[in-house]
Amino acid sequence: MPRHTEIFGSVKVHELQRVLKLDSGGFENPRAKDISSEELKGVLKRSAIVVPVKNENLNLLDGVLRAIPFDCSIIVVSNSERVSQDTYKMERELVTNTHDLTQQEILIIHQKDPGLGSAFHEVGYEEILEKEKLDGKEAGEEAGEEAGEETGKEKKEWLVRDGKSEGMIIGMLLAKSLGKDFIGFADADNFVPGAVREYVMDFAAGFCMSESPFSMVRLHWRYKPKVVEDKLYFKKWGRVSETTNKYLNLLISTCTGFETGVVITGNAGEHALTTRLADLMCYSTGYTIEPYHFVFLFDKFGPREAEESAEKVGAEKASTEKAGTEKAGTEKASSEAANAGIEIFQIETLNPHLHEEKGEAHINEMLTGSLRMVYNCRLCNDYVKSKVLAELEGLEALQEDWEARSRWKGKPSHIMPPVGRIDVGKFMKVLKSSSESLLRCKQGATKCEVVERGRGEKKNETSSFYRP
Ligand code: GDD
Ligand code: MG
Repeated sequence: MPRHTEIFGSVKVHELQRVLKLDSGGFENPRAKDISSEELKGVLKRSAIVVPVKNENLNLLDGVLRAIPFDCSIIVVSNSERVSQDTYKMERELVTNTHDLTQQEILIIHQKDPGLGSAFHEVGYEEILEKEKLDGKEAGEEAGEEAGEETGKEKKEWLVRDGKSEGMIIGMLLAKSLGKDFIGFADADNFVPGAVREYVMDFAAGFCMSESPFSMVRLHWRYKPKVVEDKLYFKKWGRVSETTNKYLNLLISTCTGFETGVVITGNAGEHALTTRLADLMCYSTGYTIEPYHFVFLFDKFGPREAEESAEKVGAEKASTEKAGTEKAGTEKASSEAANAGIEIFQIETLNPHLHEEKGEAHINEMLTGSLRMVYNCRLCNDYVKSKVLAELEGLEALQEDWEARSRWKGKPSHIMPPVGRIDVGKFMKVLKSSSESLLRCKQGATKCEVVERGRGEKKNETSSFYRP
């Protein structure tokens, strides 16, 4: 059980919870929460686990796919190399073979599939598209008028931007198309398949404890082992997460006047949320998606806004029913969320986290990105801003990039609107008729459905890549 819950407007942040037993015995104890396997299974069946992948070792992806419990659907969103070496083809073969052997439902799609970009364009979710391509398209249309239709056509290609967050949004839409109620995320570069299985069970456990339909489960690793000299050192904190948590906590502390250390999952890549919450959240780009979850919730449902939201509910209900627009739909959901409360569970995993090391520059990017999110939070007062800037000054890597720092003073770029506004039926219709990479292997089916580009027809695909 969480020992304490920090109530911040409509946002309830539960203090860290620990896994006492991976598989418990069904005994009542007022100090601990026992969750039956039937209950967990019930949640798993309504869950999709999204696996974002970009050029990871196939053996690692293989372990992750095999670790995700059978009852969940898996959605692999790849942004891997397709030109010099077709890594995506190999990932796809891995998916079809895993499905051949296990019959678990698995979907896979490539982030740069032009059909996917078109689907986002058609439903008006342009914030996820590459800016250059949008500009190119406009220029192309003008050029097309002079140089004939072909040029115009060639330029009309929409591509989704690079980024983990962008891949996660694609995954969320596919999860919604499957009618899932819970969406979880697991990175593809995990060395320990057993840990991945635990992550998914921990997500399910969080949802079993939740009282609000708008909830999120974020995982905190007990240890993140590193090799120090010739030994494994069981490190507790990463450089990025420690700093992000510190400033997210400072945001809460300076608002409430009471110091808190409740947030310990500012950068939790492994997290899950109810589809109802996923629908109304805005998302930041790339690796800033996780710290921005908090910033968004603080901005939208934090103390000041919460009071206004509660007052607005009645009025909004009436206007929403009248307007009937998609935007009004998400506003209505936000009002419901403000009333029901948004629950954030933070669970410490029993398994340590071992994954690929991506280097110093990558860590710095994540750190500065996270601080940028805090800096641009509506609740960030001058005191917290000055602390964030002082933290940055201490970062050697950023000394040269002083100009970048001054850009922070504006709104953070690339905030993507709620996916709840997207007409998923229309999105899938366009996707199925124009995608060249989408593959759906249904649960129990012996063959996978391949959507043939341009025709929306399906053919079956099996592979000979891997046999037991
Ligand atoms: N689809 C897609 N598109 N996947 C991507 C992209 C992309 O552009 N970029 C990276 N990925 C995949 C990676 O292949 C990996 O499976 C996962 O996203 C996480 O990326 P890493 O590069 O391994 O990130 P990290 O390990 O440094 O950081 C992770 O953990 C942090 C702490 O929990 C990420 O999940 C962070 O978002 C997280 O904050
Ligand atoms: Mg990683």
